[in-house]
Amino acid sequence: MITTVNLPKQLRSALQGARQQNQRIGFVPTMGNLHAGHIALVKEAQRHCDVVVVSIFVNPLQFNNSSDLDSYPRTLEEDLAALSKAGADLAFIPNAEVLYPNGLALETKVNVPGISTMLEGALRPGHFEGVSTVVCKLFNLVQPNVAVFGEKDFQQLALIRKMTADLLLPIEIIGLATVREPDGLAMSSRNTRLSSQQRLQAPQLAQQMQLIARQLNHNNVPQLQAQTIQQLELQGFRCDGIDIVDANTLEPITSQSTTAVVLMAAFLGEVRLIDNCVVELS
Ligand code: PAF
Repeated sequence: MITTVNLPKQLRSALQGARQQNQRIGFVPTMGNLHAGHIALVKEAQRHCDVVVVSIFVNPLQFNNSSDLDSYPRTLEEDLAALSKAGADLAFIPNAEVLYPNGLALETKVNVPGISTMLEGALRPGHFEGVSTVVCKLFNLVQPNVAVFGEKDFQQLALIRKMTADLLLPIEIIGLATVREPDGLAMSSRNTRLSSQQRLQAPQLAQQMQLIARQLNHNNVPQLQAQTIQQLELQGFRCDGIDIVDANTLEPITSQSTTAVVLMAAFLGEVRLIDNCVVELS
């Protein structure tokens, strides 16, 4: 079974040997409820490092809505079994008092300007500040050489890359392609909250995204957006952001843009699903 630690000093002593031997430490931050997508992140970290640390912490600072926080699935026993099977070396499972000793309101926050308030950040005020703050704290505690994040959270990955560069953190950030179910649905801990009917509808989100990817050019963004929203709403989704932007700036596409990203966010019932894909513009 994987070694688990809850406190910073336990984490430091568990990693002391690896550091003394100059081993490379890889880090995968998670909120638990692990699925094959998370395990792929662990495997990627193993490809680059000698020791892999996975954190499990459902971060209250990044939830805008307390019912979403309360209903976030917590499956620690299964998570630890999956991490053991994957050969991860250490699970760091802090509680909120460890990460936010002053309480959420009085903590110092890490604010990444621009990225954190656009697109998804505009829809979920405070969300990205919560992500950058907790990831910065976790980076400081684990002090990894490499950290691996899923590309499924495209804007989150851009946020972490900018934070790491701006704060001069000596950590290599690796993004890993989204892992999908056989029917194309992007893997997510939220998928388990879909009813069986919603689970059948859910792959439409990826299908509509692929349709955009096939048709997209510099001049048809508003038209594709409107068409996609109409289709998804007909299929029972409530769209929460269908954005097609420059993949490098996250700003609207201009005639200079070479790469676009299609960012999809839509509710099925109470469950908010997201997906994205990058499209080369010719
Ligand atoms: O992607 C996630 O699961 C979370 O946003 C992260 C990076 C673990 C921070 O809480």
